[in-house]
Amino acid sequence: MSFTADRLLLFGATGDLAQRMLLPSLFALDADGLLAPDLKIIGTARSSMSDAEYRNFARAALEKYLPAERRGRMAGFLNRLAYQPLDATTLEGYDDLAKKVGKPARGLAIFLSTAPSLFGPTIKGLQSAGLTGENVRMCLEKPLGTDLATSREINDAVAGAFPESRIFRIDHYLGKETVQNLLALRFANIMFEPLWNAAHIDHVQITVAETVGLEGRVAFYDDAGAIRDMVQNHMLQLLALVAMEPPAHFDAAAVRDEKVKVLRALRPVSAGETVTGQYRAGAIQGQAVPGYDEELGKDSDTETFVAIKGHVDNWRWKGVPFYLRTGKRMPKRVTEIVIQFRCVPHSIFAGKGATMQPNRLVIGIQPEENITLSLMAKVPGLDREGIRLRSVPLNIAMPDAFSGAVRRIAYERLLLDLVEGDQTLFVRRDEVEAQWEWVDAIRSRWEADGLTPKTYTAGSWGPSAAIALAERDGVTWHE
Ligand code: BG6
Repeated sequence: MSFTADRLLLFGATGDLAQRMLLPSLFALDADGLLAPDLKIIGTARSSMSDAEYRNFARAALEKYLPAERRGRMAGFLNRLAYQPLDATTLEGYDDLAKKVGKPARGLAIFLSTAPSLFGPTIKGLQSAGLTGENVRMCLEKPLGTDLATSREINDAVAGAFPESRIFRIDHYLGKETVQNLLALRFANIMFEPLWNAAHIDHVQITVAETVGLEGRVAFYDDAGAIRDMVQNHMLQLLALVAMEPPAHFDAAAVRDEKVKVLRALRPVSAGETVTGQYRAGAIQGQAVPGYDEELGKDSDTETFVAIKGHVDNWRWKGVPFYLRTGKRMPKRVTEIVIQFRCVPHSIFAGKGATMQPNRLVIGIQPEENITLSLMAKVPGLDREGIRLRSVPLNIAMPDAFSGAVRRIAYERLLLDLVEGDQTLFVRRDEVEAQWEWVDAIRSRWEADGLTPKTYTAGSWGPSAAIALAERDGVTWHE
């Protein structure tokens, strides 16, 4: 059912995500006149606070996390906010919560940004208070479980109260403008699609490197590790967007149907196709940083880095490796996708001494939003001693190409789509489960093989075995 919600209920309203992302995003949407004038936002969490106290809390978060150029008058936005304390684990408080939400004129969107252990009790509470009707949609923030079995439990609990058409699972990478641009690049241009296959592509690399370490998320991260925190969701979504067939339309069913086919075609990874690492003390951009074990205060076998050689077993991608790597405490923050094309089938310049490099397309997702296509060109000269060719970049810096356009954070787009009811950029249950299935198999293999993370120095690109993983195939990671 399509409606623009006039109530938004935020669970976890005092949490880190709410402060850093949700409140600033909602403020920015409000400032740009994108929220319905009658949209009311009700926050709920365990702490006891009045509406006025929550508005002060929200103001402090906005002052802390909104970039100065996007801060403006806050009063109008803060007036939309209300707050109801709730112990989500017992049924008692839900009737009061429902009273606070009131009767929506059109509908209610609920955003669950709480520990997954609270999902089940929260759904029960919402049901008991009549907050799961046809005019209610439910948005879930990761982590959605810790493996396929627990993710199914969560999905079953939510499915008991909401049909899939009203469930919105967030993967915030899908809200990033540059991630959406990947679809425009592939499907709004004629020149890439004929080459986008095993006949013309040698391999694909996806890197998500971060300079940050644990960031105080000690308990969560040590239970998750890089593969569950980053690969299971964000990186597999990027892979699916790179590898999927052209959907017939840009809508929720068509796009997600194509992504899930790719995720289901992922080949179980073999022994020797993954490398894990854990950082030790080092330096990043000249700053000394402690090791993971020091930050954690104990020894641990959790990986803070993982590199994987993946394969998509279908006609289009037969024999094309997808090298994935992600890690904390890398030398720089960069998310990028590299499409390495094959060499030309025959070099007419070989007899003239020229060497060739295959073309490469680098799609920079963050922090640089660049698309660079490397092309071979002749080095100017009279060529008396042979022809020299060199790779030159064709470079599009997105911010320059679209100067003046507002750079929005991912949650702005996703929250607006949630309020308006567009599921295209949200993850469907079958996708999440296919993602878990692949990741669970990798983790079982680690366990069976007794694989523990190799150490790497903070500020490096991970253990040397990760370099070897690619170099064995004659591939160099793009840096
Ligand atoms: C989150 C992970 O999902 O994504 C974090 O839990 C990670 O560990 C973050 O730092 C990265 O997001 P972004 O948008 O900064 O690349």
